[in-house]
Amino acid sequence: MIEQQLWHPVTASHQVRHEPVACSLLGQPLVLWREHSHDGSHVHAWVDRCPHRGARLSLGRVLIGVHGARLECPYHGWQFAAGEGRCQHIPAAPDFVPPAAHRATVFEAREQHGLVWVRLHAPTNPLSPDLADPPAFAQSDDATWRTVLCGPYELNTSAPRLVENFLDLSHFGFVHEGWLGERGHAQVQTGVVEEGTGLAGLVVSDARAWQPRAYASAGEGTWIAYRYDVPHPFAAILRKDATQGDPVSNAIALFIRPDGNEMCTAWFVMATQGDTSSDKELIDFQDAVFAQDRPVVESQRPRALPVGRTVPVTEVHGPADRVSSAYRRYLNRLGVVLGTC
Ligand code: FES
Ligand SMILES: [Fe+2]
Repeated sequence: MIEQQLWHPVTASHQVRHEPVACSLLGQPLVLWREHSHDGSHVHAWVDRCPHRGARLSLGRVLIGVHGARLECPYHGWQFAAGEGRCQHIPAAPDFVPPAAHRATVFEAREQHGLVWVRLHAPTNPLSPDLADPPAFAQSDDATWRTVLCGPYELNTSAPRLVENFLDLSHFGFVHEGWLGERGHAQVQTGVVEEGTGLAGLVVSDARAWQPRAYASAGEGTWIAYRYDVPHPFAAILRKDATQGDPVSNAIALFIRPDGNEMCTAWFVMATQGDTSSDKELIDFQDAVFAQDRPVVESQRPRALPVGRTVPVTEVHGPADRVSSAYRRYLNRLGVVLGTC
């Protein structure tokens, strides 16, 4: 499955401090733990199971010593070293030198955009450059933008349903009336849709919608120009700018951990230039917008996104659905099974 070969967000970086943390990705229980060393801080993601007698390593503790950081199992105290996860010490037999096979199972883990990202398998075939790393989000690496992390939002629907909602301008006048849209101003311009070839993602430029309150500190309604990037099947990034000289620019990334065919956990990374709202006000705004989306998105049936993979697509499309159709074709090109039907 290609899903196993992609990077996925598993939790917020700030959740992983001194104690090990349990989480799960695509049905695989993980223990996340943080190593502080002379060259910085690293997060490790291992199978949450001790190779000795199967206890959960996330119930153990992190040891810092002269030999570097180790994770200690809660049951018999075996110590596993950062890096390759090799057992370095068995307290009940202190003179025994554990062989190489005495090791925890280690996954690749990285931190980006305030989130911990994990990949369960290295790609069997080369993926597109977009997919070789966690998705890029230029504004979160640029000090001229202020970023805040919103979420996690646990949702009873598939990750693709939520991505499609994020790409959809034509629900604004109804779901977000008075905020991101207005019934009387519901017409949208879907813009220019560039569908990548092969495994490359989508880019949508110059899409437009009328918004009464486009961001937290917006004073009045205006036309907003949208650009979307979909570099990963479960991630999308939008850049929105007022078209009439408003000094505020916003970029919002949606990153989703798929938790099955009908469940997912989402985070938004909001980046702003010029918005005078506090971080809390930005988060409250995003929480309020998401609370408007939630009941509608969770009501969609089937919860998996119909891309025509196993059953004929049972949804009809209008002219404003070009972006969502392109997204469905992208999922098909990649061979994404999780959360699709
Ligand atoms: S089960 Fe982990 S040390 Fe025994
Ligand atoms: Fe929405």
